[in-house]
Amino acid sequence: MILGSRVNPAAGNFRENDRELRGLAEELRGLAAVVAQGGGETARERHRARGKMPVRERVDELLDPGSPFLEIGQLAAHEVYDSPLPAAGIVCGVGWIGGRPCMLTANDATVKGGAYYPLTVKKHLRAQEIAAACRLPCVYLADSGGAYLKGQAEVFPDRDHFGRIFRNQALMSADGIPQIAAVMGPCTAGGAYIPAMADESVIVKGTGAIYLAGPPLVKAATGESIDSESLGGADVHTRVSGVADHYAENDREALRVVRRILARRESHPSEASAPMDWDSAPPPRFSPDELHGVVGANLRRPFDMREVVARIVDDSEWDEFKARHAETLLTGFA
Ligand code: COA
Repeated sequence: MILGSRVNPAAGNFRENDRELRGLAEELRGLAAVVAQGGGETARERHRARGKMPVRERVDELLDPGSPFLEIGQLAAHEVYDSPLPAAGIVCGVGWIGGRPCMLTANDATVKGGAYYPLTVKKHLRAQEIAAACRLPCVYLADSGGAYLKGQAEVFPDRDHFGRIFRNQALMSADGIPQIAAVMGPCTAGGAYIPAMADESVIVKGTGAIYLAGPPLVKAATGESIDSESLGGADVHTRVSGVADHYAENDREALRVVRRILARRESHPSEASAPMDWDSAPPPRFSPDELHGVVGANLRRPFDMREVVARIVDDSEWDEFKARHAETLLTGFA
């Protein structure tokens, strides 16, 4: 059946409806554009001056060029708190990476240092809930001062508070849904657990840091003066502690590493696109015949395991996990 219509677009009430609703839609677009700016001009300038990309540029750079980004909760926390908290300080949404839909949660450090207000937590949990239900790999672009210090009672202790974020990461990871984090700013306390709980994480040299308390708090509590990089920067966490797995020179490189990690991770065995075609798999670039010569019969003599891998895996292709940490284990802690 083809539907008919009795609407008269020339009628007064039709035109009035049209004008009013278009007006509201325009207002909404204007509001969304303001929210998309994040924190104030000074915070944005400071952010850029540190060599950091603004949060929405990070999201654009991470996603497949020209692909859509389905943002959720853009107006979360709008006119809720005494001072503005655009998008609740966190950009969340579904975007495509390597042709696959993923859930992104990206802290906006220009909004109160990316701190988690109660509604920031709620929005983050909502994003994870959608990801779990739809089996979407989660990418966390972490740049956060952790819990909103003045409201810890409403952020930390209860079931649907901050701790649930980490619990969700653990459950999704166990369920085979990839949890990938990029540390792109100082991540303190609650902000630090997110990359630590991820399956794989990358950290940016000079700006990324993971610690329970930043240098000012360490100074106040223990009297020790220490800079951010030495306390929990990229070198410390990739080479010494092993908390982070990949080292990046800057934001752009970190986002490239996230794409690379996702490219080699399935969400679930059922997601494997096609049955393995053994005949077309490229052989290793070095002959497996050489394995005997590499390893030898003297098990006391060490050999480079990468030489072995290069003779086993397709095309000798190797994306190393914790490469800098492995060096430390081999050569000792500096
Ligand atoms: N709670 C509440 N507000 C926070 C915050 C937090 N955890 N972290 C940062 N902010 C606010 C700052 O008060 C400041 O607000 P203002 O713009 O109104 O003055 C704004 O965010 C920017 O912080 P600032 O310190 O100027 O930025 P920075 O980039 O130099 O440093 C941090 C960022 C996160 C390293 C630093 O703010 C910090 O150490 N914060 C405290 C982190 C902490 O101890 N968290 C414990 C959580 S349990």
